[in-house]
Amino acid sequence: MVKTRVGVVGCGSIGSEICKAIDSDEATGLDLGMELKFLIDTNPANVDRLCKSLTKTPDILKSDNTGLDRVLDTVDLVIECASQAAVREFIIPALKKGKEVMILSVGALLCESGLFEEIEKIAKEKGCKVHIPSGAVAGIDGLKSGAIGGIHKVELTTKKPPSGFEGNRYVKGQGIDLLSIKKAETLFMGHAKEAVKYFPENVNVAASLSIAGIGSEATKVKIVADPSTKKNVHEIVVKGEFGKFFVCIENEPSITNPKTSYLAALSAIATLKSISYPIRVGT
Ligand SMILES: NC(=O)c1ccc[n+]([C@@H]2O[C@H](COP(=O)([O-])OP(=O)(O)OC[C@H]3O[C@@H](n4cnc5c(N)ncnc54)[C@H](O)[C@@H]3O)[C@@H](O)[C@H]2O)c1
Repeated sequence: MVKTRVGVVGCGSIGSEICKAIDSDEATGLDLGMELKFLIDTNPANVDRLCKSLTKTPDILKSDNTGLDRVLDTVDLVIECASQAAVREFIIPALKKGKEVMILSVGALLCESGLFEEIEKIAKEKGCKVHIPSGAVAGIDGLKSGAIGGIHKVELTTKKPPSGFEGNRYVKGQGIDLLSIKKAETLFMGHAKEAVKYFPENVNVAASLSIAGIGSEATKVKIVADPSTKKNVHEIVVKGEFGKFFVCIENEPSITNPKTSYLAALSAIATLKSISYPIRVGT
């Protein structure tokens, strides 16, 4: 079988999980049928660390985008799991060369005005797929289906222990004393576009829901400091012509980056599986 040639930008928490899954897919039975051709990370130490954990070192290891045109020629699929800036830096050139892409820093599509439309336009012109995994949320399947018939409401409530908001400038600016919070307290209510300005750590979840559903100005977000929880909890309520659903996710942090939910890396690997496997279950 001809293997799909893959390049990965970002060798941190999510990138490492993705690369290990590709590298060990025969042993684990995942059977992705992919091979790693390049790794790019601005921090060479992260590339080194990752390579030590792989059975086969990819041909091209880089710390910047020099010679990107030639590097992109070596692959069929480019995976971005680095940063919002990396989406413009690597995904746009990859699409222009007709490569299939996957974006993990989905918040970039909410924060940089016009980027989503630009990506959509190039992908249509070049006939390539842009994969955006569900990331740290569940319910994207129902939201997409519901949106076909019409959605009336999408509401995300994110709950974290008060300590999870330490150092947040908006919380400080509101004069909220996190140490004095003894029962659940709402810190913010507004739409997704506004929420990500004040709570950038929520940006990927808000972006995924907005893109799958009814956009960032219609998607409502509530942020709660809740001393009774130890996890990052996302509750999603969707109402539409289909009826209503409620999803609650209590995410475990990834071991190597506590800011990232483990589910995000798993959803990227599941997306790779859906690319390579002929039977697709779920919307
Ligand atoms: N879609 C989701 O639900 C979801 C969930 C969690 C994280 N994310 C996003 O995925 C991305 C990766 O997350 P992570 O936990 O693996 O982060 P991480 O910090 O563990 O790793 C990121 C890696 O990318 C590298 N990097 C940063 N900018 C780069 C650039 N311009 N070019 C090349 N390399 C660069 C860093 O050196 C680092 O090694 C982040 O943008 C994060 O916000 C998305």
